[in-house]
Amino acid sequence: MSYAALRSIGAYVPKKILSNDDLAKMVDTSDEWISKRTGIKERRIAAKDETTSDMGVEAAKKAIERSGIEIEDIDMVICATISPDYFCMPSTATIIAKKLGLGNTTAFDISAACTGFVYILSIAKAFIESGMKKNILIIGSEKLSAITDYTDRGTCILFGDGAGAAMVSATQNIDEAIIDINTGSDGTYADLLMSPNGGTGSPHDSLDQEATSCFMQMKGNETFKVAVRTLTKDVVEILEKNNIESSAIKHFIPHQANYRIIKAVGDALKMTKEQVVVTVDKYGNTSGASIPMAINEIYENGSLKSGELLLLDAFGGGLTWGSALVPFSPLK
Ligand code: ACO
Repeated sequence: MSYAALRSIGAYVPKKILSNDDLAKMVDTSDEWISKRTGIKERRIAAKDETTSDMGVEAAKKAIERSGIEIEDIDMVICATISPDYFCMPSTATIIAKKLGLGNTTAFDISAACTGFVYILSIAKAFIESGMKKNILIIGSEKLSAITDYTDRGTCILFGDGAGAAMVSATQNIDEAIIDINTGSDGTYADLLMSPNGGTGSPHDSLDQEATSCFMQMKGNETFKVAVRTLTKDVVEILEKNNIESSAIKHFIPHQANYRIIKAVGDALKMTKEQVVVTVDKYGNTSGASIPMAINEIYENGSLKSGELLLLDAFGGGLTWGSALVPFSPLK
């Protein structure tokens, strides 16, 4: 049987920085409020003509180069995004595959908001373990600035743009294998976080679509409580199921939505400060890109070593959630 191994990681962030002080000139807020309530100091904003696929391609190039796997051997591309290049078709994954020069490759997007990366990791694992695919490029890429209402102080302070990518490939060595992935959803809470307009659930009645049609709306305070509860429960379950103590985790990588959520979950799990990876201060919430961007951060600063165990933990619109126990298993 083949197992699935996380071989490499890459990320990309746009150059433009939007600071809390910049936002304070746009809406009634302050650096003090944003820092205290969210831990976010700044976020990146893509250029006007920079698309979700453009950012995904840059992250993917790094993941491919670091993987030691030849580009022609990639047999599937999956992109997790809630801010695709085009809302219906083509998928952002097919555009990324084309821009990378991949020929006849299976490519598709999935929509699971901030849990997107854990979902695509689980899909890659399943395809590889079934023997259907061998080398799968997974990408979380978001241009959230394009679906953010910059007159709504409740949401515009939170979100940023960026992309992360990883190569997942087949191995016969069980020590390299992704140990387990847990995913779930509950549509009962759909209205906590949604882009309510423009789909068949709430269609436009004319072609004069308002620019605001797909902006995100969030019930922040309720989402916060469900996030802490769900993220903690999810991790307790996956650790117990696999008989792993939280002290065995080298890097705990929660979805980067709010430092207070990260701290509450880390404390509940008795994680040390050294175990918990935090990037929300620099990048804000980049939804499906946040977890691979955070893994890339520890890879590039030299603190992620071969064989170390990662615990991923995500939560997002849907509601969706997921956790994963993943050893980092580079080929080189
Ligand atoms: N600046 C100043 N004041 C503000 C701001 C702001 N940017 N935003 C809200 N306020 C005010 C409110 O109006 C309210 O004022 P009031 O007491 O006079 O009514 C007060 O601050 C408190 O508002 P709350 O919404 O209760 O603030 P809270 O502490 O909950 O923080 C926040 C808001 C940061 C949005 C938080 O609730 C949060 O992070 N929620 C979770 C986000 C999340 O995890 N999302 C899921 C993933 S995202 C995805 O899937 C794409």
